[in-house]
Amino acid sequence: GTDKNMTWILFLVIIKSQMCEGQCGQKLLTCSCHATCVSLENCCEDFKDFCVDISPYSGSMFGGTDFVVLGVSFNNISNIFCRFKKEIVTEGYVDDEKRGHCTSPLLYETGWIPFEIFTNKGLNNSRQGAWLSVHTGKLDSKLKVQLENATKWQYYGTPNTGGSLKMTWNVSLVRAEAVNLELWGYREQGVPYSDSWKAEWTYLYSLERGHPNNGTFTFIPKVAEKPYSDWELGAIRVSSSTYPDGASNVNAAWSEDHALAWHLEESYREDSAAWALKKCVTWDQLEKTLPNFLSETIDCPCTLAQARADTGRFHTDYGCDLEKGSVCTYHPGSVHCVRAIQASSEYAAGQQCCYDSTGAQVLTFDSIGGSTPDRGHDWGSPPYKKPPRVPGSSHWVYDVLSFYYCCLWSENCHYYFTHRPSSDCRTYKPPKAGFVFGDPHFITFDNVSYTFNGKGEYSLVVAAEKGLLVQGRTEQLTEPLAVNATKLSAVAMKEGNSDVIEVRLSRLFSSLEVLRNQAPLSFSEQTWMDLDGKAVFSYLCNVTVMFPSGAGVEVRLRERTIVVTVLLPEDFRNSVEGLLGNMNDDPTDDLISRDKEIFLANSNAEELFSFGASWAILNESSLFTYDSAFLLDTYFYAPKHNPYFRPVFELPIMCSGKGSQFCKYDTLVSRSADLGNATRHSFNSHMSVVVALEPVVSCGWIPPPKNGKKEGTTYLQGSTLTFSCDAGYTLQGAAERKCQSDGRWSGDSLECVAGKKELTTAKNTFSVLL
Ligand SMILES: *[C@@H]1O[C@H](CO)[C@@H](O)[C@H](O)[C@H]1NC(C)=O
Ligand SMILES: *[C@@H]1O[C@H](CO)[C@@H](O)[C@H](O)[C@H]1NC(C)=O
Ligand SMILES: *[C@@H]1O[C@H](CO)[C@@H](O)[C@H](O)[C@H]1NC(C)=O
Ligand SMILES: *[C@@H]1O[C@H](CO)[C@@H](O)[C@H](O)[C@H]1NC(C)=O
Ligand SMILES: *[C@@H]1O[C@H](CO)[C@@H](O)[C@H](O)[C@H]1NC(C)=O
Ligand SMILES: *[C@@H]1O[C@H](CO)[C@@H](O)[C@H](O)[C@H]1NC(C)=O
Ligand SMILES: *[C@@H]1O[C@H](CO)[C@@H](O)[C@H](O)[C@H]1NC(C)=O
Ligand SMILES: *[C@@H]1O[C@H](CO)[C@@H](O)[C@H](O)[C@H]1NC(C)=O
Ligand SMILES: *[C@@H]1O[C@H](CO)[C@@H](O)[C@H](O)[C@H]1NC(C)=O
Ligand SMILES: *[C@@H]1O[C@H](CO)[C@@H](O)[C@H](O)[C@H]1NC(C)=O
Repeated sequence: GTDKNMTWILFLVIIKSQMCEGQCGQKLLTCSCHATCVSLENCCEDFKDFCVDISPYSGSMFGGTDFVVLGVSFNNISNIFCRFKKEIVTEGYVDDEKRGHCTSPLLYETGWIPFEIFTNKGLNNSRQGAWLSVHTGKLDSKLKVQLENATKWQYYGTPNTGGSLKMTWNVSLVRAEAVNLELWGYREQGVPYSDSWKAEWTYLYSLERGHPNNGTFTFIPKVAEKPYSDWELGAIRVSSSTYPDGASNVNAAWSEDHALAWHLEESYREDSAAWALKKCVTWDQLEKTLPNFLSETIDCPCTLAQARADTGRFHTDYGCDLEKGSVCTYHPGSVHCVRAIQASSEYAAGQQCCYDSTGAQVLTFDSIGGSTPDRGHDWGSPPYKKPPRVPGSSHWVYDVLSFYYCCLWSENCHYYFTHRPSSDCRTYKPPKAGFVFGDPHFITFDNVSYTFNGKGEYSLVVAAEKGLLVQGRTEQLTEPLAVNATKLSAVAMKEGNSDVIEVRLSRLFSSLEVLRNQAPLSFSEQTWMDLDGKAVFSYLCNVTVMFPSGAGVEVRLRERTIVVTVLLPEDFRNSVEGLLGNMNDDPTDDLISRDKEIFLANSNAEELFSFGASWAILNESSLFTYDSAFLLDTYFYAPKHNPYFRPVFELPIMCSGKGSQFCKYDTLVSRSADLGNATRHSFNSHMSVVVALEPVVSCGWIPPPKNGKKEGTTYLQGSTLTFSCDAGYTLQGAAERKCQSDGRWSGDSLECVAGKKELTTAKNTFSVLL
């Protein structure tokens, strides 16, 4: 009976795939499990029959996660397999409740990985799904094997260390009574930046076999035998002892990848500082032969406020996060670090920027806690898989191990900082922010405010050169009363030939829904997603979409409406159009209609209405999803700008303070004090973003004089540095220098010259007298 059954399913699948080649709204979609739309006639409404959901849908890129296939009964099937990316096969099983399980594989990449499920009956392609592979640093620590007292692991083998190391894990991560504890090593081999450059995770040896799966393991680390002791980076894997040593892609829990201090060779244990210095010098030699990536990396924002407002290009570094109160292990003295989201264009390098509690940059020239650029971007970069683009691991090899050699296990940090100096911010250009909020008010990139209450779908930003499109949909305000005004209810966007990301209000206006190519994306397990070079980050009521160009779109839920901020870097200047203006720093020519007519910001409301209407999108270029009768009737079959909807144009006067003009309008028009209040808050928070993004002049770092000292570590306009000389030297030049508005330091550069000096302390006087 079983074979017949499967044949029947196979037949069914083919039929369904054919059905999916139909119209999907107005779009013809190639059906895949993450590009489909539901509940429309002639569309992929049956996609659930061959696309499966799984739980959990995400886990470590090291693999080993057991996931269950939802909504499918695997009655009478004994073995199932999953095939990821058409090549990596892992074995699954059917549990007592006839549910199918599979195991995620070891991957060298992050993001959505397509897979198919098939069975021992020779059926291929029966079901498809997608697995979200996550950078281990972004993964919840409960899903990993925890190394207890990371500091002890990190310094093991250096002076005054020893004793046992302990690790713990949640026993439900490994389906076994007894487990093996294996050490796996990572390395990159071949000629850097050539085709032969390859990444490799390999089983090295077992620390213990047949250990009870009780969630703890303690051991006294021994020096490993050659050649294992040569592996300096690795992770510990806990897997069922029923598998042979090093079996690949089996159910397992992994520790974080870490420097394997605890198993390094005898000579390291004997004199770790000398050993580390040798390694540091070797690394220094290697770096001198590798291409210089520093000129390619993006410059850091000058202040913490800029760094936190520039969300299209920078994102919190998970290792040093103000909001999480994290200890910045590698950056003492810093309270918050961010990383450039995109890797640099040719070498895929990363940039990191750290700030102290005053909001000033912490630089390696002054402090060991300074931020450092990276040859390998910590988060990896598309197309991943090959060095230096392997998420996490490449960064470890090129930027972190060397930090251990030069800075942690020995005191030779100057070698490290020669190759990884902090970026100051002298060439940093903050992005411009455009804003849509309330019943829609617009603030253009050049800070022109106006109100446009059209109903329909409009272009907020069209940047033809960069291929960036951001579209907004407005809907009539129906709460608390239906009134003739609108609010933003959806934003859809793409850049170049990227996926389309749409963020919209849920039907009850109570949450945001994120769609990728018309299919819902769930953020229930992960807040960050890498999607082919584009990243989406969602946290409660905020969604941030970051594009490769550095453009960022932040969508927030406020009082049942959508508020959107679009951030565009400097190189979009004068090459955008749409409702948010042309970004040329000239507020007088911001309101240009699609047919190039210029409107003044103080035009009357009806004129502004016709300006806004001109930016209605076309059916063909719409990025929106029309998956309900309401959306079809209201937006798809109807004109993109509804000419029959006439908003309230006249407004009388209640709110006070900044942003009150919008608040008044919204309160009166919508009769909702809450909306009015939300509008005022949105306006104020936008203005604080605009202030945070104002350019800051930096004069750049200056060194302390030879044989002297410098006081002060801020280099921005208005900062003062003071200099003094060591005993026996005299200062020549300015003892005090101030950063001026033109980006230059006041005064002349100074020197400490050997010679007579006025002696001030008794001790010095005494020595002179002698
Ligand atoms: C499963 O197998 C049992 C016994 O082999 C058989 O009675 C039953 O009909 C099968 N179920 C299905 C759905 O094929
Ligand atoms: C099943 O797999 C085989 C070999 O991998 C392939 O030739 C065949 O076309 C596949 N069948 C279907 C229905 O996809
Ligand atoms: C961690 O290990 C270090 C070095 O052995 C030790 O000084 C410290 O007390 C340990 N901390 C904890 C919390 O056990
Ligand atoms: C272990 O994991 C299971 C399943 O995810 C969870 O229910 C349980 O609370 C976890 N236990 C601990 C101690 O975290
Ligand atoms: C786990 O098993 C090991 C080995 O039998 C034992 O030493 C350890 O105490 C156990 N841990 C717990 C928490 O039971
Ligand atoms: C932007 O415009 C508002 C008035 O709408 C004004 O208060 C504010 O100072 C302007 N900001 C900048 C940076 O020009
Ligand atoms: C809204 O506009 C329609 C027609 O344009 C009009 O009939 C209606 O009275 C208006 N409603 C309100 C609340 O102003
Ligand atoms: C969400 O956005 C609001 C408004 O900008 C901001 O105050 C808040 O900190 C954001 N929350 C998170 C978690 O990013
Ligand atoms: C959009 O396309 C649909 C289907 O072809 C058509 O019915 C509708 O009128 C078009 N809408 C506009 C505004 O052209
Ligand atoms: C206005 O909104 C802010 C933030 O959204 C909230 O803290 C405050 O309580 C609101 N005030 C009123 C009067 O509703």
